[in-house]
Amino acid sequence: EKGGYPHFMIKEIFDQPRVLRDCMRGRVNKEVKEILLSAVIDHKDKLLNAKRFILTACGTSWHAALIGKQMLESIAKIPVEVEYASEFRYRDPVITDQDVVFAISQSGETADTLAAIELAKSRGAYIYGICNAIGSSISRASDTGTYIHVGPEIGVASTKAFTGQVAVLAMLTLCLAKEKGTITDERYKYLVDQLASVPDMIEKILKTSGGIEKIAPTFTYARNFIYLGRGFNYPVALEGALKLKEISYIHAEGYPAAEMKHGPIALVDEEMPVVFIAPHNSLYEKVLSNIQEVKARKGRILSIVSDGDKDVTAFSDYIIEVPHVDPIFEPLLTVVPLQLISYYIAVAKGREVDQPRNLAKSVTVE
Ligand code: M6R
Repeated sequence: EKGGYPHFMIKEIFDQPRVLRDCMRGRVNKEVKEILLSAVIDHKDKLLNAKRFILTACGTSWHAALIGKQMLESIAKIPVEVEYASEFRYRDPVITDQDVVFAISQSGETADTLAAIELAKSRGAYIYGICNAIGSSISRASDTGTYIHVGPEIGVASTKAFTGQVAVLAMLTLCLAKEKGTITDERYKYLVDQLASVPDMIEKILKTSGGIEKIAPTFTYARNFIYLGRGFNYPVALEGALKLKEISYIHAEGYPAAEMKHGPIALVDEEMPVVFIAPHNSLYEKVLSNIQEVKARKGRILSIVSDGDKDVTAFSDYIIEVPHVDPIFEPLLTVVPLQLISYYIAVAKGREVDQPRNLAKSVTVE
């Protein structure tokens, strides 16, 4: 049940610290700073000898895949392609028995994702499922896999499944990097420790929800929103925009921040809310200059910043702070305020948060 919350979505947002601990339980050992995933132990040769990984998914799960690609490439040095399942299945892709195809799906029942792995399997690829629903069609059709174990997700807008998927992709990345020797021992242990601390950090963000709830009504007039981020936070911009669209019915676009000047900046005027995801990382200065460009055109700026931020804060109309974490795990934190802001805007607009119009929880027809 809703556990005293008015909607499943907000319950599931607040569930994230607890369910991420469940997701990591028995896998992440904080004491000895080690990660063990049974799929990696049991299918080590297949995974380590793969020439390429292909991650296929739809919607929010596809956004998690984009983050997984950046993690796997930068830390485990494995070439990764990300594919919309609906496109992949119909475009006669080159697939060989040297490929491992990952299907990422909360429900494990998404028709296009299932069809994509059936195609890949028929061409000899090894299939790895990352699902939430135990015993679901995609998990059964996979050769191996890792459940995200975040408990049933009822709200149509995916929240805890997204952070669960990203957490599994993070664990997978660290396991493979360790096996392949693409990471130093010191950095591996540091990252294991950082990942294990993420649930506590999310708890801290959730404590600021009252402030986010207060900001939300000032945005209900908007007909459009732009979400901008770079690096690991570019997929978070896409996810923030999707969350807003599906439950508040406000049109929103996510872009890599630097792409703005190639078109979308033409939309910016004093009515346009622009959400920047701008934590302290190596791209901070770059994002700051993108923020200044929007400010010069009088956009209304809401920024997600690291605790204690000064420079981005000075140019923003509103800020939401998140704790400092290694940049590869930033999406696990920066997405949370975006889930909250879309929830509170939808509530302020009187929308059917858990059952938005025209949407189904799992898309079992193509
Ligand atoms: O169950 P799946 O993860 O395969 O679902 C994929 C999408 O249908 C899903 O993420 C959808 O985009 C959500 N409504 C997003 O909040």
